[in-house]
Amino acid sequence: MARGGGACVVMAAAALLLLLLAGGHSGGVHCLRSRAESGATVLELRHHSSNGFGSGPGLKRRGAEDAGGLLASDAARVSWLQRRIDSYGKLRTRSSDTAAAAESKLAQVPVTSGARLRTLNYVATVGIGGREATVVVDTASELTWVQCAPCDACHDQQDPLFDPAASPSYAAVPCNSSSCDALQEATGMSGQACGGADDRPAACSYALSYRDGSYSRGVLAHDKLSLAGEDVEGFVFGCGTSNQGPFGGTAGLMGLGRSQLSLVSQTMDRFGGVFSYCLPLKESGSSGSLVLGDDSSSVYRNSTPIVYTSMLSDPAQGPFYFLNMTGITVGGQEVESSGFSPAKAIIDSGTIITSLVPSVYNAVRAEFLSQLAEYPQAPAFSILDTCFNLTGLSEVQVPSLKLVFDGNVEVEVDSKGVLYFVSTDSSQVCLALASLKSEYDTSIIGNYQQKNLRVVFDTLGSRIGFAQETCDYI
Ligand SMILES: *[C@@H]1O[C@H](CO)[C@@H](O)[C@H](O)[C@H]1NC(C)=O
Ligand SMILES: *[C@@H]1O[C@H](CO)[C@@H](O)[C@H](O)[C@H]1NC(C)=O
Ligand SMILES: *[C@@H]1O[C@H](CO)[C@@H](O)[C@H](O)[C@H]1NC(C)=O
Repeated sequence: MARGGGACVVMAAAALLLLLLAGGHSGGVHCLRSRAESGATVLELRHHSSNGFGSGPGLKRRGAEDAGGLLASDAARVSWLQRRIDSYGKLRTRSSDTAAAAESKLAQVPVTSGARLRTLNYVATVGIGGREATVVVDTASELTWVQCAPCDACHDQQDPLFDPAASPSYAAVPCNSSSCDALQEATGMSGQACGGADDRPAACSYALSYRDGSYSRGVLAHDKLSLAGEDVEGFVFGCGTSNQGPFGGTAGLMGLGRSQLSLVSQTMDRFGGVFSYCLPLKESGSSGSLVLGDDSSSVYRNSTPIVYTSMLSDPAQGPFYFLNMTGITVGGQEVESSGFSPAKAIIDSGTIITSLVPSVYNAVRAEFLSQLAEYPQAPAFSILDTCFNLTGLSEVQVPSLKLVFDGNVEVEVDSKGVLYFVSTDSSQVCLALASLKSEYDTSIIGNYQQKNLRVVFDTLGSRIGFAQETCDYI
């Protein structure tokens, strides 16, 4: 397991938001080191006085509340995903006709925490029509979209708004195209996409809805996509003129889902249907990577061999990546639960906290509580119900957390993906896992537990790979 390397880490979103609110200064960063000890990782705790943040307790409380809000919207995404999974069960998907052999090329794009853009998701900067767009990296979305001028309703974004009129290579996708058909199929809005406003009669309109009250609407278009110098001509994306949701200051979303219009599918002949990412631990000053194409020898920096588990390939799965999670170990102790059969789980870069079906969650929680019994408990925080007060302790033994997948593939979660520090004085440190509402829901592996791993999605080979990697490319 990775040693902490002595890095000074902005540990939790709460801490990060404090920094943002305090004007982005890095003073008072909660500094943690870790070292491995049999079956556990010892995290050193450093306590900084709150005036290190240059502000009073009011600000501190506000930071935690903001993080709570972001986690609550994570919960909304989880229930949205559950509804989508149900509806995709009923939707017929097109059989894949992608036998084409790939001339394996490669594109590597830096991925960073979206914290500076007020999102707990990870973001990458790409070029669309020659303009930069910083978008959320989302493996559960079937379409890439960016906010487009003229906007009916757009959120504030950091990059200049994409203006189709300023891009000579931009064109709307016509209604009678196969892309428009594919979109209808992907979004289940058959017959609606060509409703045709009078001013744009031939354009294919789209409407994606993500979470309660969250959506992107506009027209389907194509333009040149640039991935760190690699150009993809005629890339189909959504030109969103009406967008709303917790997208922070991003320009939109990169759809890496398992569906026809996703970036992965559109670049199949170029990158072979393989992509991977390495999500950084740190929320600033560090970047990981998103790699399109499969070239483990040249760009991955994994420190352990990549081990693969099968991607469950039921065509009724919509854009989601499913795998078979057959077990979990806590501090080397295997957790017993009937909830591992069926063992189907989603792996998602756009969900933050891993959510488990109640039987599995309760068993994991019980094991953590027994191994952390020496520490006093603290109140729940948002969707995190198992918290401890570690104030005054100089170090804490964090039990290791391993996810086990079909084929006996064991993935050790980075020790900094096990606990969530709500407050900088360590008085509320929570197990960074949440329970789903129903046993019939599908467990989702979120990005908080995927940090410092190389996660490889091989859509043609129908497998998902994992390796330890330090995602610190700066
Ligand atoms: C779409 O419609 C246009 C205009 O009616 C026509 O020229 C074109 O061939 C059609 N394309 C397809 C793929 O049917
Ligand atoms: C946490 O524990 C410390 C030391 O035992 C105590 O002083 C403090 O009041 C506790 N904080 C909370 C929020 O319970
Ligand atoms: C998941 O893995 C278990 C154990 O290998 C196996 O028995 C089960 O059939 C798998 N489920 C699916 C849906 O592949």
